[in-house]
Amino acid sequence: MATELDPASRIAELRELVAHHSRLYYEQDTPELPDADFDRLQRELRDLEDAHPELAAEDSIINTVGGAPSAAFAPVEHEVKMASLDNAFDLDELRGWGERLERRLGDERSIDAYAIELKFDGLALSIRYENGELVRAATRGDGTTGEDVTHTVRTIKDIPHTLTGSPPPVVEVRGEAYMRRSTFDALNEAQEAAGLKAYVNPRNAAAGSIRQKDAAVAATRGLSFWPYQLGQVVDGPELQSHTDTFDFLTSIGFTVNDHTRKVDSLDGVVAFIEEYQNRRHDLDYEFDGVVTKVNSLAMQRELGSTARAPRWAIAYKMPPEERATRLIDIPISIGTNGSATPYALLEPVFVGGVTVTNATLHNQDQVAAKDVRPGDMVIVRRAGDVIPEVVGPVLSERDPKSVPWVFPSDCPVCARPLVRPEGEARHRCPFADCPAQVRGRIEHFAQRSAMDIEHFGERTIDLLVTEGLISDVGDVFLFDPEDLRRFEGFGDTSIENLAAALESSRTRPLGKVIFGLAIPHVGSSNGELLAKAFGSIDAVAAATVEQIAAVDGVGPIIAESVVEWFASDVGLEIVRKLHEGRVRPEAPKVSTLEPTLTGMSIVVSGGLANYGRAEAKEAILGRGGKAPGSVSKNTTALVVGNDPGASKVTKAEDLGVPILDEAQFEVLLETGELPT
Ligand code: IVH
Repeated sequence: MATELDPASRIAELRELVAHHSRLYYEQDTPELPDADFDRLQRELRDLEDAHPELAAEDSIINTVGGAPSAAFAPVEHEVKMASLDNAFDLDELRGWGERLERRLGDERSIDAYAIELKFDGLALSIRYENGELVRAATRGDGTTGEDVTHTVRTIKDIPHTLTGSPPPVVEVRGEAYMRRSTFDALNEAQEAAGLKAYVNPRNAAAGSIRQKDAAVAATRGLSFWPYQLGQVVDGPELQSHTDTFDFLTSIGFTVNDHTRKVDSLDGVVAFIEEYQNRRHDLDYEFDGVVTKVNSLAMQRELGSTARAPRWAIAYKMPPEERATRLIDIPISIGTNGSATPYALLEPVFVGGVTVTNATLHNQDQVAAKDVRPGDMVIVRRAGDVIPEVVGPVLSERDPKSVPWVFPSDCPVCARPLVRPEGEARHRCPFADCPAQVRGRIEHFAQRSAMDIEHFGERTIDLLVTEGLISDVGDVFLFDPEDLRRFEGFGDTSIENLAAALESSRTRPLGKVIFGLAIPHVGSSNGELLAKAFGSIDAVAAATVEQIAAVDGVGPIIAESVVEWFASDVGLEIVRKLHEGRVRPEAPKVSTLEPTLTGMSIVVSGGLANYGRAEAKEAILGRGGKAPGSVSKNTTALVVGNDPGASKVTKAEDLGVPILDEAQFEVLLETGELPT
């Protein structure tokens, strides 16, 4: 248990947890923890570091903002740091913040006005205008260096390309890009109709859309933007207050959010919070809190900032919402790999802005720990819009005759016994021919990131499996689409479409095909690695554990799993059927370059004359090197072109990493030698 650890171990553990969830949240746009739980971890870490200054570290994750910028986008150094905000989780903490500020200001002065606004749930942007023209837009990144997303930001209608009024020569407008709920619902409908994965929430959809390589895709997403701060301003007007900032933003052509208020005390802030708590779902966009800022800019300057956040602002986080509803039943769902997961089937309940009808209960032990029973009234919580959770039963309303729930002994799909392997938390259906698993594997095979078979959705797969027309992924290219004609909903067009889709999937890239086979432990990146290393399915199938484990990035567990799969009856049969079904995967391009950079890690910053950003990266990867986006102690060399990132250069100097110009880079590419 966490609380039993000594502070040093708990701090170490928390730093790891926070780092992991920060990566998922900020860099990959795929959080797996509800926001409130993520906040709680960060809070615990901050409190522990505060309580044990001897264990605190300046470079602790808690003093960083957001995530590392992705190497997929050009880095942008922020002229003025993009800070984060400190949080208050209840009204006492909010009042505590106000009192600290008053103490800091001393007896003579006190805060006469606070500006309040909503805390929008989206992605922070800094948009730079020079002489009134939009020149660059960047994400927050780690607060110092963001990602250049000018191309996608230009597609946002709320963001002017040319400012109106009399803009100063340089002005950076900061605010939140977000997706309206209505836009989000429409996007997800379209995703589902196209057989694609739905986005978890509008925040992720917005972040994912901004961080698209292709501006045309972002343009279809209908993003919106609320401005709320200024970054660098050169020769701007004399602004006295945050309210002036909003007027200025309006004067240069931005629309500011109108759910704002200027109040003279924290009582006014509390009243605003109480009002908006109840209006959380009335607006067409999500907000997860309320931001209060000291209105006077002079006072803001005087109060200053900590390493992470300004002292003059605080975000009050709205608590996760909880509602009671009836637990109708605890059914079991069977996953692609046979895992048997209990979930709560609920009477529909509106919580956290959506109607919830089911929630995972994870496994037998979790159900036992919560002791929820079919028929109970239960509390459902939905925080941060990730996944709804059953908190526990309302014991006072329990039927006295109810008995604890027992994990069913048989698979609900194939009716054969479930097992719970020794030492594991999960039950499994051990029969690979269980229709639930067959369907799951075929859906996995057909999905976009694998064989990408269009017009081959859940319904068609379910029908084909139920009717016995296909029984494994090998049959996907062997059955005759004409056989579907006798079923309702299948006519000339749908059959032709499916046949054409199957034909074009026969030549999918090899890595995608390998990933599609659902070999245990082989995800899409391992699929690519195997494809690159072996070049054909038959070559992978013939490889030994040692040969596979020798591939850079592939470990022994994966290697064993691959060999075992290809040697199994199932594997042999599937490979045979893929050949019979004329599947001809496209082999990966093999680099013809000399592997001069094996084992080296080269960072490029700034513009080079002979290489675009992507080309420089290709030149490194193609020669067996790595090309990460940031400098670390493992960096072999930093290559600098025009206008390189200042923080990278400083870091390289600090760490003693050699700094090369373009000519030296070319020598390195050619020979693998660093200049002496
Ligand atoms: S002001 C220096 N105002 O919250 C202070 N931030 O948790 C800069 N956010 O990075 C932020 N709504 O992405 C501010 N009305 C608002 C906001 C807001 C949302 C986000 C922003 C920031 C994050 C910090």
